[in-house]
Amino acid sequence: MQRWTPSSWRARPAKHIPVDYADTNALVVAEDRLRSMPPLVFAGEARRLKGLLGSVAKGEAFLLQGGDCAESFREFHADNIRDTFRLILQMAVVLTFAGGKPVVKVGRLAGQFAKPRSEATETIDGVTLPSYRGDNINGQDFDPISRAPDPERLLKAYGQSASTLNLLRAYAGGGYADLYNIHNWTQGYVDDSPLGARYRELTDKISEALTFMAAVGVTPETHPDLKRVEVFTSHEALLLGFEEAMTRVDSQGGEWFDTSAHMLWIGERTRGLDGAHVEFMRGIRNPIGCKCGPAMEPDELLRLIDVLNPNNEPGRLTVIGRFGSDKVEARLPALMRATARAGRQVVWSIDPMHGNTLKAANGYKTRPFDRILKEVRSFVEVARAEGVHPGGLHLEMTGQNVTECLGGARALAEDELSHRYHTHCDPRLNADQALELAFLVAENLKARRSAPIWAAAG
Ligand code: PEP
Ligand code: CO
Repeated sequence: MQRWTPSSWRARPAKHIPVDYADTNALVVAEDRLRSMPPLVFAGEARRLKGLLGSVAKGEAFLLQGGDCAESFREFHADNIRDTFRLILQMAVVLTFAGGKPVVKVGRLAGQFAKPRSEATETIDGVTLPSYRGDNINGQDFDPISRAPDPERLLKAYGQSASTLNLLRAYAGGGYADLYNIHNWTQGYVDDSPLGARYRELTDKISEALTFMAAVGVTPETHPDLKRVEVFTSHEALLLGFEEAMTRVDSQGGEWFDTSAHMLWIGERTRGLDGAHVEFMRGIRNPIGCKCGPAMEPDELLRLIDVLNPNNEPGRLTVIGRFGSDKVEARLPALMRATARAGRQVVWSIDPMHGNTLKAANGYKTRPFDRILKEVRSFVEVARAEGVHPGGLHLEMTGQNVTECLGGARALAEDELSHRYHTHCDPRLNADQALELAFLVAENLKARRSAPIWAAAG
């Protein structure tokens, strides 16, 4: 294999990276400015996450990864960050308690801007313009100026990522993440939810556990750790020029880390073995993910794993399945069997969003809650049958009360999609839908806790 450098990807075919910047010199200048910007995360933090994911790979913990499909300049607001952070914590408490294992929390946050698009252009009323590709490349408004790629956007996205991360760090360390608060918020959701009675047993048990802990003197005052959580950041490493500029040698270990996020992943459209994205990702030492869709074959997956995790390091690689509720049962077993038989230490995670997208009659791109749930349950069933730990859940979700996915306890209907459809790309679960999904997965965890491996009841 050729020697790796942060720029060795440039000699490979690169899909989904814009080449139509009007001023290519301005792009070089912007990337140079990024090179001199401070790192967003430290190598030590990325190593720490890799260690935690190593325990997921060994079946001792779960991974919850979630956030926007695409962060945007328009939706950038402290309340949005707080609400998504809070939702991740609520879901994690429910899953931790039910599964009896720690939950590693990773946001699709603080850098999740660039999007691969199936169509390079979009035509409206006879006018054809470049597709919207994420706020760090071009703008969503349908006009030629907005749709032209602008290198300045890279710096603006860097700045927004830094502010987002700063707020996350403050929330995570400063009392907001107090376990008692989190439980009270979740209790509030259960009281209001049409399916609340179904979840009450679980929240009552969490209350009992907290009361017991307080009675024996374990409170946030006596144990400040109860006020802190660890939350990590992640995004798709799509725009390799940006990622390269953020990649630095760790002064301690002498290894290369992409300091734009703790974890990076390769998308379904850019995971070609000979492509630029796999080349870039093989050389950074962060924990990484790779999406895996219905076209993936077992041999191909093993070859990818050999390139991306040649030392078989647990926690280095998370395989994120995204098949669709109608394909997962046919496609996943052979892939899991292949990794298990070959003794490959990977985290198996499921993204039940990207294989379940459809267009509603009124034109809105949406996802039915039932199919999302079905794909998660099938994933767990298959994993159980193959003797693999169903380690992770990867979701597009927001703490906001948006109307983008159909169904859930409140039975969101097609004619309601237009009410608060705010996403800049794919439809996200709203806070109620995401928490409901956590409760439903938790019911399965709880039911299986006495059994050797947890799995969906049906
Ligand atoms: C995404 O995660 O937003 C995405 C584009 O997913 P995929 O690469 O699996 O299609
Ligand atoms: Co998406």
